[in-house]
This record gives sequence, structure tokens and C-alpha cells, in this order.
Amino acid sequence: MKGVILQKAILLFLVSVVFVSGCVSQDSGTGTTDNTQGNEDMIVIGFSLSDLRVERWQRDRDFFTEKAEELGASVIAVSADLDADIQESQAENLILQGVDALVIVAHDGEKAASIVEKAHEAGIQVIAYDRLIKNCDLDYYISFDNVKVGEYEAKGVLDVVSEGDFAYLGGSLTDNNAFLVKEGSFNLLQPKIDSGEINLVLDVFNDGWKSEEAYRQLKAYLEENGTVDAVVCANDGTAMGAIQALEEFNLSGIPVSGQDASLGACQMIAEGRQTISVYKPLMSIAEKAAEMAVAIAKGETAETNQEVDNGEIEVPSYLLDVRMVTRDNLMSTVIADGFHSYEDVYQNVPESERPERN
Ligand code: BGC
Repeated sequence: MKGVILQKAILLFLVSVVFVSGCVSQDSGTGTTDNTQGNEDMIVIGFSLSDLRVERWQRDRDFFTEKAEELGASVIAVSADLDADIQESQAENLILQGVDALVIVAHDGEKAASIVEKAHEAGIQVIAYDRLIKNCDLDYYISFDNVKVGEYEAKGVLDVVSEGDFAYLGGSLTDNNAFLVKEGSFNLLQPKIDSGEINLVLDVFNDGWKSEEAYRQLKAYLEENGTVDAVVCANDGTAMGAIQALEEFNLSGIPVSGQDASLGACQMIAEGRQTISVYKPLMSIAEKAAEMAVAIAKGETAETNQEVDNGEIEVPSYLLDVRMVTRDNLMSTVIADGFHSYEDVYQNVPESERPERN
């Protein structure tokens, strides 16, 4: 018992000063330090992220931390910068520090199963955040309807061009979401491929969802073939790479999809350079996940709304809905929700061409 209290006291000390190696530090503006001082009973949640390269993850981390703190817990957030081995050792570190719950955005949804096992050996429950962890006794999963994300991506493109040479840039092979999104897109594309209306000229995944990789892949295709009629990209980062390649080949205006409704993507949608993105309300997933984490840290059962098969068990899960974003509804989606400001979204659009503010 004494050992546990000592461990917790050390952990709380670390929370107040820690900079976990090679990764995210505690956000000094969050007030975590003050909250934890002198309170050995405070709940501490470990939040292990795959990376912070894509804009959304910093927002996920910050919304999550804010909500957890509001609920009286503190958060140690770490980022593995797209390396599954680093993620595993960072998670081991959090487990050793005695966190009360572990929340993981898995870089590799298969490999992360060993983190779940190790957490369980230490009596810590695990929530897979946004990305499913496969083939293990995972405690909880929270995400969006990723199949619908893929359906919207294809729909947004098909609404503009419904036949011709299509390229598909699918995101990371180690991320289960890449497969769900692809399933969704191909629900719409496959019948047209089968009927011969669509010629699938490029169908690739992109290491780590990297923009540069998507750029290289599409550029290599265009160097050989000169043109393409549409590019279905699995997220905004890959879309950005694709758009750069298209513009270098004077193919601006070719429909391109993405997801995340990142600021860059919304600006390009406003400018007519990207066709569609998918808005996933990050505050909702982050706050819900924080509530779940605090509940399980207290030994309670977290609220879920369905079960998802991870290859080993039916994981109690909470899935949130998503919305399609196009030039026509930027105002009523991301801007109305306060996800991005009007000024930011229309920054590159001349004032005379901007829609009226509500
Ligand atoms: C997420 C996307 C994100 C991508 C790259 C996926 O798992 O669902 O929102 O763009 O990872 O980080």
C-alpha cells in the first residue's frame, strides 16, 4: 500500500514537471501542475498518440486534457512520432508510472495489442482512441463512423465527376481506419469500376498518412500518364499532397477528397482547390473519451453505444457521426460549429467572393 502511494506521489511529481522524452510535453497552459499538487488520490490518465504531424491530433490532445482536468483528473500525453516501437516503450513508461487508465491512438493497430496486454498485467484498462486495436482483449474503443467517412469521400468526388480515370490514395496500412475508409469509398466506387464507368488507375496506401508520400505517388503516376479525372484521398494530408502534384501538372480543378476538415483543407475548399472533406467533431470525441477514461479510472463502466469486433472480442464502443463538407456548406458546418473561424476559412478568398456572414 505504502509502495502504491509512493508510486503515485512520484507520478504526480512527474506530471507537474515531466517532459516525456521525444514527445509531447504536458501543456504548460493547462493548469495540470496546480491541480495535482499534494493530492495523491488524483486520477492520472496516460494519453499515447501516434503522432502530432496531422493538425487534428493536437486539438484532440488539448480537448481531451481540458475535459479530463474539468473532471478532476490530470493527463500525461505523449507522441510516438509515427513509430510503433517508440509508442510501446512510451506506453510501458506510463504503465510503470501507475496511470489509472490508458488511452491510445495506435500507430500500428496490430502491434499495439501488446500494450493492451501489458496494461492489463498492471491492472490498467485501455481505451483505443479513434483507431481500433486489433486481436486483443481491448476494454473500449471510441471513434467515428469511418465507413461513412469513406462513403462521403467518394460521394463528394462522384457528385462532380462520375466516370473516367480515378486514383485512390488510401492512408496508412498500419491503421485500421484506412481499411474502414477504403471499404466506405469502394461501396460507391466498386459498382462503377465493375460497370466500366470508372477505370481505377492508381490504388495505393501511403506510409504514415504522409502528404509527401501521396505527392510522390500521384506525381509518379502523372509523369507516366499525364492526367487523371479524379483523386479520392483518404484524408486531408494526403489530399494536400495530391493537390500539389495535380497543380504541378496544371490539373487544378480535378475533384479531390479528404477527411478531417483541417483548416488547410477548408481553405482549399473555399478556394475551389479541394472538393470535399469530412468533418469529425473532435471536441465531441475527445470529451467523450475523457469521460470514459475518468469513469474506468474510478472503476466504473464507461458508456458505450455499440460493439465492434476487433478480431478477438466484441469491444464495447462509442461511435460518433460525421458530416460531409463542401464549398456549399462550409458556413453551416465547420464555421457554424466554431470548429474554424470565418476569417480563417476565407483568408485566401477575395472579400467580394466570400459568402455573407450569418
Ligand atoms: C484518422 C484521421 C487522420 C489519419 C492520419 C486516421 O486514423 O481517422 O482523422 O487524418 O489517421 O493521422
